[in-house]
Amino acid sequence: PETITVQELANRMAERGGEVIKSLMKMGVMATINQIIDADTAELVAQEFGHKVRRVAESDVELGMLGTDDKVEDLRPRCPVVTVMGHVDHGKTSLLDAIRQADVASGEAGGITQHIGAYQIEVPSGDKITFIDTPGHEAFTEMRARGANVTDIVILVVAADDGIMAQTVEAIRHARAAKVPVIVAVNKIDKPDADPQRVRTELLQHEIVVEDMGGDVQAIDVSALTKQGLDTLLEAIALQAEVLELKANPDRAATGVVIEAKVERGRGSVATVLVQRGTVRTGDVFVAGAEWGRVRALVNDRGEPSESAGPSEPIEVLGLQGTPTAGDDFVVVENESRAREIADYRQRLLREKSATAGARGTVEQMLSAI
Ligand code: GTP
Ligand code: MG
Repeated sequence: PETITVQELANRMAERGGEVIKSLMKMGVMATINQIIDADTAELVAQEFGHKVRRVAESDVELGMLGTDDKVEDLRPRCPVVTVMGHVDHGKTSLLDAIRQADVASGEAGGITQHIGAYQIEVPSGDKITFIDTPGHEAFTEMRARGANVTDIVILVVAADDGIMAQTVEAIRHARAAKVPVIVAVNKIDKPDADPQRVRTELLQHEIVVEDMGGDVQAIDVSALTKQGLDTLLEAIALQAEVLELKANPDRAATGVVIEAKVERGRGSVATVLVQRGTVRTGDVFVAGAEWGRVRALVNDRGEPSESAGPSEPIEVLGLQGTPTAGDDFVVVENESRAREIADYRQRLLREKSATAGARGTVEQMLSAI
């Protein structure tokens, strides 16, 4: 079972042991400084102190803690990570393509392997922006479930000729749950039946009040087809990013999140990783979910080999022993035996979980058969 001593919990939160004991007392738990408490109790205490809790398994306690020890003076500005979300066919990929000025979509149709669903662009001012496309939102949902703060800004794409649809609402919910600011891109305004004003009105029903209606959400009319409004959209992102003052420590072992992972012929298991802290380099040993590996090569979003990738950078990682899942964490560790240990432990947890799920399945089938 997951446990922690009161002292250790206090240390991790950078709080006094006495304060933690007091907080426990309020919850009706009488504990001494060296007492062992269970994870659920520890989580409640941490929340009391206003800490965001990321639960990690027993053997990766250290791994989980890697992300929390950056000193303020080590933080450097990083570029925003922007996730494009919205209803099917409202033009998310087209919009990204237009922004990149490169038509990936037609490349896909031509049979070229689709590259990573994350790209970094540089705007004329020299600032960079990382974009993540979300086909089916799968990755985003999983990441949110794991509590990872993957994206800094959500671009909600709404087709002006179609309005708010089911997945638009779902995207709004995701963004809200993740407490991420939204910028609305009202797309397809080139279409004769486009009604961008209706989109703004419909958004009110979902508590999104855009600026021209007295609210604080930026809404930009765009067309991925004619490229109208794209500069304004990029400016809106830059403005929002400035407010967020995004920072990360680039000089430490890398941590990040798996955006997508697959097996490719001749390349083995390949994961697209968004680096969130630190810098990943070829040769680094890492854990990704329940898999581990040693970085054999890094490939950037333009398909070029790369030596390293820092905060907010999307990068393809080769050298995995197996295929992780979108939403899994990515953490560089000190050596292979440590990586194996964590991956083995997580594999075992997964097996146990699927075993109980299977057992439950049979009980349910049994009941429904009665
Ligand atoms: P999914 O990934 O399947 O959810 O779709 P998507 O949101 O990525 O949409 P996609 O970019 O694939 O575009 C869907 C269709 O809309 C395509 O046929 C595009 O050519 C068309 N489309 C996208 N943007 C525009 C636009 O601004 N104007 C017009 N007229 N058509 C557009
Ligand atoms: Mg798409």
